[in-house]
Amino acid sequence: MSAILIDGKTVAKRCRTELKQEVATCKKGGISVSLSVILVGDDPASQIYVRNKQRACEEVGIHSNTIRMPQNVTQEELLEEISKQNADPSCNGILAQLPLPAHLSEKEVLQAISPLKDVDGFHPENMGRLMEGAPSFVPCTAAGILELIHSTGVSLASKRCVVVGRSNIVGKPTSILLLQEDATVTIAHSKTKNLKELTKQADVLIVAVGRAGLIRGDMIRPGAVVIDVGMNRTEDGALCGDVAFSEAEETAGFLTPVPGGVGPMTIAMLLKNTVVAAKMQNKQIIS
Ligand code: GUN
Repeated sequence: MSAILIDGKTVAKRCRTELKQEVATCKKGGISVSLSVILVGDDPASQIYVRNKQRACEEVGIHSNTIRMPQNVTQEELLEEISKQNADPSCNGILAQLPLPAHLSEKEVLQAISPLKDVDGFHPENMGRLMEGAPSFVPCTAAGILELIHSTGVSLASKRCVVVGRSNIVGKPTSILLLQEDATVTIAHSKTKNLKELTKQADVLIVAVGRAGLIRGDMIRPGAVVIDVGMNRTEDGALCGDVAFSEAEETAGFLTPVPGGVGPMTIAMLLKNTVVAAKMQNKQIIS
């Protein structure tokens, strides 16, 4: 059997086309949508991610404001900038690109962003609302994973889902979203014993660890939906996920490639959250 590839580029493009329309409607109603991205230092990977976010904003007509701060910026200076963005009515969404340099408190920075502009969904208030099932900004990668699963037409109700990885950014919020769709969810992590025993039972397997080749073909249930969130570099510099792709292709029913799977969806969901933020701040929707 050869898995059907889940084409994240196409699904993300479809989302961006819809959002472009929504942004145009907002503009007609006098609302211009704007995202502020704060980039501290010059980490090469972060520079690429931020550039991709800028490009995607341009494509759909969202104004993007990239605020570059030096590597040695102080916590106070960074918090001051966030306060400025919180208070600026022309800014609808704020994102602090992670990771931050080690001398800064990520927790304090994320808490400083107004929950109403928290398009990453990392503020404790939005995390709490997600847990409750209340309307909230949902972390973008988790939201993108759900969109990709929906694109397969596979229903999640009563399915056995295994999420490998327990990060605040991906593993935990994804598990909550799966639970909200009535899946039976197991979260595995670095201390989990007999990982293969669990993954083999999964109708839907989501892997977000950051270790190339962690999931081999014989760890996948035949026909399963496999979502690979990993983003690793091989020795020759190529991008690869956490799933041994050619082996998984033989067993899975649906499979995301890396690159071209989850990655494009994360940015599409960021744009979506920014449009929602702009509408909410302009009282276009009541949540
Ligand atoms: N760095 C890697 N992924 C993310 C993300 O989703 N949001 C932010 N702010 N930084 C990141």
